[in-house]
Amino acid sequence: MSATVTVEICMGTACYVMGGAQLASIADRLPEEWKDRVTVKGMRCVGACQQTGQYGRAPFVRVNDELISEADEGKVLNAIRSILEA
Ligand code: FES
Repeated sequence: MSATVTVEICMGTACYVMGGAQLASIADRLPEEWKDRVTVKGMRCVGACQQTGQYGRAPFVRVNDELISEADEGKVLNAIRSILEA
């Protein structure tokens, strides 16, 4: 079975200024063997930035159903890997 992964990077202002801007180009840096199984797109503010007590801090990235707070490239790649290699 080959799982696929959708990565949605929040493009809302809070996330964008906190690092979402750099994450937006992560698709270019994915390992070659992942490229046809991973879709990267932007999403609008999901509101999590206004409820930091509940969700953590910006930037937020959703990987399939999991919302990752304080997302950086390492966290996002780990989340992708755990799905693709499950
Ligand atoms: S700007 Fe990203 S959750 Fe609000």
